[in-house]
Amino acid sequence: MPLGKRKHSTGEICQPVISVPEVEGHAMATAEHIKSLIRSHCDNDRERFFAIALQVAAHEAKQGHAAAAHDIRDLVDKARATPRKVIPFNREFSDLILAATPSFRIADIVLADEKRQRIDRVIREYRKQDKLRKHGLSNRRKILLAGPPGTGKTMTASVLAGELKLPLYTILMDKLVTKFMGETSAKLRQIFDIIRAQRGVYLFDEFDAIGAERGRGNDVGEMRRVLNTFLQLIEQDDSDGLIVAATNNAAILDQALFRRFDDILYYGLPSPDEVQSLIANRLGNFKPKQISSRELTKASKGLSHAEIGQACDDAIKSAILADSKSVTATSLKNMLQERRSAYGQTNSTLRA
Ligand SMILES: Nc1ncnc2c1ncn2[C@@H]1O[C@H](COP(=O)(O)OP(=O)(O)OP(=O)(O)O)[C@@H](O)[C@H]1O
Ligand SMILES: [Mg+2]
Repeated sequence: MPLGKRKHSTGEICQPVISVPEVEGHAMATAEHIKSLIRSHCDNDRERFFAIALQVAAHEAKQGHAAAAHDIRDLVDKARATPRKVIPFNREFSDLILAATPSFRIADIVLADEKRQRIDRVIREYRKQDKLRKHGLSNRRKILLAGPPGTGKTMTASVLAGELKLPLYTILMDKLVTKFMGETSAKLRQIFDIIRAQRGVYLFDEFDAIGAERGRGNDVGEMRRVLNTFLQLIEQDDSDGLIVAATNNAAILDQALFRRFDDILYYGLPSPDEVQSLIANRLGNFKPKQISSRELTKASKGLSHAEIGQACDDAIKSAILADSKSVTATSLKNMLQERRSAYGQTNSTLRA
């Protein structure tokens, strides 16, 4: 796409995006500001709308209208803090796409610094997409998350939605494939039409249901067509939302998929530092008075973030039922051990 030009949600190519002039010497918002506000409203472009409103506030402040500038900034802050409305789907899609308005923030998720920075970059680029657009660039918005169960892939999509005040739409890929065998490609096209029409974070969960290598032996012609359709659709997509695909099994994904994503994040079991943070966050005031970090690391070996979280909840429940204000180190270690046994992660359990 040529520099400065982009497709709008209606599909037609619009004029190059104008940069809003900072007009001097007028007491009121200029006609240019108002025209830009109307355009961004029609394009359903909230971030751009807010950016222009803040320019009007700055303009008012320069004119000495401090109260008006303050009111406008206040309105923008309040509007930014309000999540977009979730639009319900018709019956055909309501059991294929789950809608939610998550309130997770980036501080809620425990991650290695490098991964946190990359998620932060997605958020920053989304917020500053207007600035990037002026240079003919677009924000990174197609993200692939790969890693074992319970390590924070779905939670990452929720954090993106929570931080950007966007609805989270989860597309249940396994259901899509089994329910619409024979017409999966057509359904996928309709889903990409929805993505174009309604801004949000779209999570293609269990992505391997369609993303498996095209050449694999168990591959039927239908699945090859579905994957080809997906590759085409994601490549063509220039909507304003974020597209996140999550898989437990990156190794079987078709190589052609990788270059369609702007960013690929690999998740893994928590490091010892992550185990400490996870337990401290989850237990809060219930944290045991004394517990060695070495013991915790040992007791959590092989457990995912989700399993450690569940063990913490189990220990809190047990403390509450015992009328205690904090979890004991022994109870926490036992709960972690129980999780390891439950998931067959200790040799003794496997042997039993
Ligand atoms: N990195 C993390 N930081 C904090 N909590 C986490 C993290 N990962 C997982 N959890 C906890 O575990 C729950 C389940 O995690 P999540 O659904 O993100 O896993 P997932 O990687 O999507 O797993 P699956 O592959 O099974 O879909 C979260 O709601 C959260 O409570
Ligand atoms: Mg998940």
